[in-house]
Amino acid sequence: MTTRRLVLSRGAALVGAASTSLLLPEIVRAQSNRVRVGFMLPYTGTFAQLGVAIENGVRMAINEKGGKLGGREIEWFKVDDESEPSKGVENANRLVQRDKVDVLIGTVHSGVQMGIQRVARESGVLNLIPNAGVHAATRALCAPNVFRTSFSNSQPTRALGKPMMDKGLKRTVWITWKYAAGDEAFEGFKESYTAAGGTIIKELGLPFPNVEFQALLTEIASLRPDAVACFFAGGGAAKFIRDYAAAGLKDRIPLWGSGFLTEGVLDAAGPAAEGIMTTMHYADSLDTPRNRQFRNAYATQFKMQPDVYSVQGYDTGLLLAQGMAAVKGDIANKQALYKSLETQTIDSPRGKWTMSPSHNPVQDIYLRRVENKDNKVIGIAAKALADSGAGCKMG
Ligand code: PHB
Repeated sequence: MTTRRLVLSRGAALVGAASTSLLLPEIVRAQSNRVRVGFMLPYTGTFAQLGVAIENGVRMAINEKGGKLGGREIEWFKVDDESEPSKGVENANRLVQRDKVDVLIGTVHSGVQMGIQRVARESGVLNLIPNAGVHAATRALCAPNVFRTSFSNSQPTRALGKPMMDKGLKRTVWITWKYAAGDEAFEGFKESYTAAGGTIIKELGLPFPNVEFQALLTEIASLRPDAVACFFAGGGAAKFIRDYAAAGLKDRIPLWGSGFLTEGVLDAAGPAAEGIMTTMHYADSLDTPRNRQFRNAYATQFKMQPDVYSVQGYDTGLLLAQGMAAVKGDIANKQALYKSLETQTIDSPRGKWTMSPSHNPVQDIYLRRVENKDNKVIGIAAKALADSGAGCKMG
């Protein structure tokens, strides 16, 4: 048995070697002409669904543009970053050094992005960020080859304080995962809420991706604030919403948040999510032909509903396709490519947006309310909001 398998596999190897060597020059030529695009996203853990939604969005946009980039075929690569910051540099180098990608699309988690940022700055590889909002990426550590298609962590929450005060919610408890995304979301909330006259009576936190909320919910109940505001996302957000209701807080203390709280989780959270108010650069129910067409096409193609992460992935695909078309696939022409990426208008399902000088979207932020498992638009909470880009010097 063993011998037979050995002989067979040797035989197969020989046949393989012979045909490979015959075909090699052609393959090499064909491959070197391909654009190498690498996804570095979470495919496991609390943000696993976010990674899938982003990849779906990217592929959908590029397929709509003919499946090529500037006329060139694409070769795809993929690394699961597990939302693990300690492996960020190593994982980015898998794509950049081992797979020699021309473009790195990633990632979701702010801490992991710091690793990508380092590798992108050192290698000069084009990095498109389809989610991670860490301020440094488009502020102090901004770079000519790094472009974000999503948001900065404080952008959605800079629109959160005023509508809360408009509802007479004057004393709030803030709760989040303690890492860059939660801390920077808090910065935006604090700025907008205190400017509108609100008081933050307590900041609560737990380490990412911990979901043991019970003790903190008990503390919230005893503090009796007018409202709770928060940042959570992915699987952890669904659990927070369910635990908040199970603790009896849902009908006593209104829950508000950065809109990630209610993205991609409305089925999992069920009735516990109804009525939650959030601010975000997208809403399912945006009543535009562009959004309707996007949602129908996505649902048909992937047999699931799109969310903000799908939109961010889609916009990443659009940006890349438009930029590569402008340089006719010549990705080595960096100056022209970056100029093109800087000046594109993205006709997104979220509404049209442009790049700020520090490479972060300038975009409208919507006020939304969860109704019948839908993020329903209530209005525009901030028009054409830009991140400050403080400390960004393009080298
Ligand atoms: C982040 O870590 O930057 C992050 C993760 C998930 C979100 C938003 C921001 O939904």
